[in-house]
Amino acid sequence: MGLRLRLPQKTSPRSPSYLLLCLLALSFFSFTALLFYKVDDFITQTKTLAGHNLEPTPWHIFPRKSFSEASRRSQAYRILQCSYFSCPYKPVLEPKSLLSDSVSGRRTQQPKCPDVFRWIQRDLEPWGETGVTKEHVEKAKESAAFRVVILSGKLYVDLFYACVQSRMMFTVWGILQLLNKYPGMVPDVDMMFDCMDKPIINRTEPQSFPAPLFRYCTNEAHLDIPFPDWSFWGWSETNLRPWDEEFGDIKQGSKRSSWGSKQPRAYWKGNPDVVSPIRMELMKCNHSRLWGAQIMRQNWAEEAKGGFEQSKLSNQCNHRYKIYAEGYAWSVSLKYIMSCGSMTLIISPEFEDFFSRGLLPKENYWPVSTTDLCRSIKFAVDWGNANPSDAEAIGKRGQGYMESISMNRVYDYMFHLIIEYSKLQKFKPEKPYSAKEVCEGSLLCFAEQKERDLLERSRAVPSLDRPCKLPDEDRSILQRLIQQKKKTTEDVRNMEMTRTERSS
Ligand SMILES: *[C@@H]1O[C@H](CO)[C@@H](O)[C@H](O)[C@H]1NC(C)=O
Ligand SMILES: *[C@@H]1O[C@H](CO)[C@@H](O)[C@H](O)[C@H]1NC(C)=O
Repeated sequence: MGLRLRLPQKTSPRSPSYLLLCLLALSFFSFTALLFYKVDDFITQTKTLAGHNLEPTPWHIFPRKSFSEASRRSQAYRILQCSYFSCPYKPVLEPKSLLSDSVSGRRTQQPKCPDVFRWIQRDLEPWGETGVTKEHVEKAKESAAFRVVILSGKLYVDLFYACVQSRMMFTVWGILQLLNKYPGMVPDVDMMFDCMDKPIINRTEPQSFPAPLFRYCTNEAHLDIPFPDWSFWGWSETNLRPWDEEFGDIKQGSKRSSWGSKQPRAYWKGNPDVVSPIRMELMKCNHSRLWGAQIMRQNWAEEAKGGFEQSKLSNQCNHRYKIYAEGYAWSVSLKYIMSCGSMTLIISPEFEDFFSRGLLPKENYWPVSTTDLCRSIKFAVDWGNANPSDAEAIGKRGQGYMESISMNRVYDYMFHLIIEYSKLQKFKPEKPYSAKEVCEGSLLCFAEQKERDLLERSRAVPSLDRPCKLPDEDRSILQRLIQQKKKTTEDVRNMEMTRTERSS
């Protein structure tokens, strides 16, 4: 009897510890299942600056970006890490008093901003009386791909739609660098951005209140507010480096041949397949003797295979005349074309970006007409070859103009535009519920190697110089410039007509 072992109670199916074990196992499994489910949910829901889970803008469809990552889990891990664990905690900076001279260490000299900055006030005029209300911003949201909110120097971005290629990443990077450059000086602001090419806020359509929408270009018929485009920080897909670097190289390349040894013809190289009637038209002018023009087709897929050797911009300054033709809307190519110091033949553009509005015909470019395009190009070439020193001077001033739009001035443009816009805000900006903080770490975390390389090269450091001084508002100066531009362009048209009549 003494040998009889007392059976432990574990045989009892009703034992509470057994139940507990079952319960634990069950909850473990369901937790894991939930986790997997959640991870899945997470990857399909978290929107990112790289374009994860974002649909193309409905008002301009383009192919969705595909992500190469091997497994969903590694993708989820990356999204999780980049979105939530990449911004270090930083104490909130008290905004310093704007533009105060007391900012420690900052030099006090303050250059005057170029005249083209006068457009900032004009662009914001539609909200001059009403101010920008929450309702205005909500209306702009209907046409926006993303929203940028700056609060005490921190950047929050709310993503609605994808942007083509890496536009969004580079645009947001540019704003982050502005915060780097002028720490504590950028005011709280709430801005809606679209990143597709064409402006859409119709100026003449009767509207009780127009939507303040930022994008890369605009024109007289629209109220979209132009903002420097992504390419100033680099354009990974076409191998373009940050603007300062690219400009320096092109200028260097332009010195390799003197004016006299440059080919006395007009040159264009680009992609005609971008739904651009004017570029298609331009293809017909490809005849050196007949039209004095050489038109070359750029095949980006081929160029990419060849490491972009053939498309190096610094090797494309061997002609006395270079043609600018718009693409689907404005084209980022303008600044590189003008940097060559050749006389730029601008085919009458429909759209303008923030800096092109400061160009003046016969001063820093030559206006070419869209009607009878080839003949108009030929006229410009003949005029230049008959007046070589004038043509050279126009080319040099064009290059000088681009030099004046240095990265410092690009940041200053953004700075003043944001300040003037924020003055109009009738409400205190707040972080939208769905917006996420974006910092350098979180943005770089999503960048591919090539993008990261460009982004890091275009990093801005805190400026010792103050931003340039915005000219006082003076409508008449701008009005005069616009009139002068119109008149000179008409004069050139008349010169052309006179010659055509004489020769026919
Ligand atoms: C703007 O709206 C007006 C009036 O509805 C219309 O006639 C005009 O074509 C529109 N402009 C553009 C550029 O869409
Ligand atoms: C233009 O003409 C040149 C020389 O004849 C040729 O090499 C080039 O491919 C032509 N360009 C186009 C776009 O057809």
